Amino acid sequence: MEPAETLELQCALAWPPMTGERLGNWWLRAAGGFTGRANSALAVGDPGLPIADALGRACDFAHSHGLDPVVHAIKDSAVEHALTALGWVPNVAHEAGHEVSVLVGPPGGPAETSRMLEVPTPGWWELCAGTSEPTEAQRHVLTTAPVLGYGVAEIGTETAGAVRGAVVDDVLHVSRLAVHPAYRRKGLAADLMAAVGAWGAARGATRCALQVAVTNAPALALYERLGFTEHHRYRYWVPGAPSCEDRSS
Ligand SMILES: CC(C)(COP(=O)(O)OP(=O)(O)OC[C@H]1O[C@@H](n2cnc3c(N)ncnc32)[C@H](O)[C@@H]1OP(=O)(O)O)[C@@H](O)C(=O)NCCC(=O)NCCS
Repeated sequence: MEPAETLELQCALAWPPMTGERLGNWWLRAAGGFTGRANSALAVGDPGLPIADALGRACDFAHSHGLDPVVHAIKDSAVEHALTALGWVPNVAHEAGHEVSVLVGPPGGPAETSRMLEVPTPGWWELCAGTSEPTEAQRHVLTTAPVLGYGVAEIGTETAGAVRGAVVDDVLHVSRLAVHPAYRRKGLAADLMAAVGAWGAARGATRCALQVAVTNAPALALYERLGFTEHHRYRYWVPGAPSCEDRSS
């Protein structure tokens, strides 16, 4: 099995920030506040300077982009131990869930009715971003990776389900899977996963990876049913106490 660090980077490349700055192997990211992943410092591997200094750089980068500093770290990694020692704490206030399971499984397929589009439709945006008029940040993060596809499940003229797929190396990164509440438990999510899986396999993916909050029981049940297993977890961390003052102004 590949190291968690490798998979983290592949997943990150599938979810590009609007502004990114490398710090050794770390990646400081900002995207107008749209999603934790695109607006946190990916603290994976060696930042090339002492961790306390790297965290200071991450704080300055966040503040200069109008963001609260957040670090994304592999659970139980050396970075997490250093974060604890330096007074950082898990960001339990993170709305979407501060602890995330990274799952891997087979790219499924073929689909029965769902299909992949090259360009997202208003219905896709509604389900995947909660609006048919995405912000610049939403548009950037969701439509910028090199190999991208947009899956839809349609009932008549209505978009009942949607998903995003991005291929990085031989990994299909799946995100934003959503089925309209009125159409749940009818197999649409499973069919969307089959559609995006077949699409990814046709573009060189040998496996599929996705990130799901550990509190999202319906999604975890779906992915287990589809043969996914946990590869590792990551967590979001924030500075405790005033260890990260805003020096941007
Ligand atoms: C998770 C979600 C996409 C599932 O969509 P869905 O179309 O209802 O799922 P399916 O009908 O294809 O379910 C296939 C199987 O997954 C499992 N499953 C799906 N939803 C479940 C739930 N709420 N509870 C338990 N198991 C569930 C079941 O095994 C189900 O088979 P069954 O209905 O024969 O028992 C949907 O609940 C949703 O949109 N949730 C909000 C967005 C979200 O959390 N997306 C995932 C982000 S990682």
